[in-house]
Amino acid sequence: MALGYTFAMIKPSACRKNHVGSILAIINQAGFRISAIQSTKLTLEEAQRFYEVHRGKEFYDSLCEFMSSGPIIVLLLQKENAVKDFRKLIGNTNPQMAEEGTIRKMFAESLQKNAVHGADSDENAKREADFFFNQRERY
Ligand code: CMP
Repeated sequence: MALGYTFAMIKPSACRKNHVGSILAIINQAGFRISAIQSTKLTLEEAQRFYEVHRGKEFYDSLCEFMSSGPIIVLLLQKENAVKDFRKLIGNTNPQMAEEGTIRKMFAESLQKNAVHGADSDENAKREADFFFNQRERY
């Protein structure tokens, strides 16, 4: 199986609560290699562009406001079956339905403040990684 990539974010709520180190350790222990990493903060306009696919949904405005409310960590991760395995590691989008041992079960506060984001397809992983990282930031 060839190595693949996924894109992930540690959301503002988890950064505010100092969960960054714990979450990165879990990601590494699960066999993901960090190909690129950046601490950044989205403007409201950037968050709206990043979450363009959700425009029109009732949670879109508050999601964009929340995602631009503070620093985030953005990650390009490499592993076999990266997209699928990372979605499994983070658990259900709704932390109330997230399985024991998943990152969202451990660190999420709510559906919106669900600690981490993980790309849902190879195509979106590429689009999302290209949003943040240029080529010389990837190793
Ligand atoms: P994420 O993986 O970042 O992708 C889109 C985000 O929208 C999702 O995690 C949740 O934080 C948020 N989200 C999805 N569905 C809802 C919902 N029904 N209400 C509020 N927020 C939602």
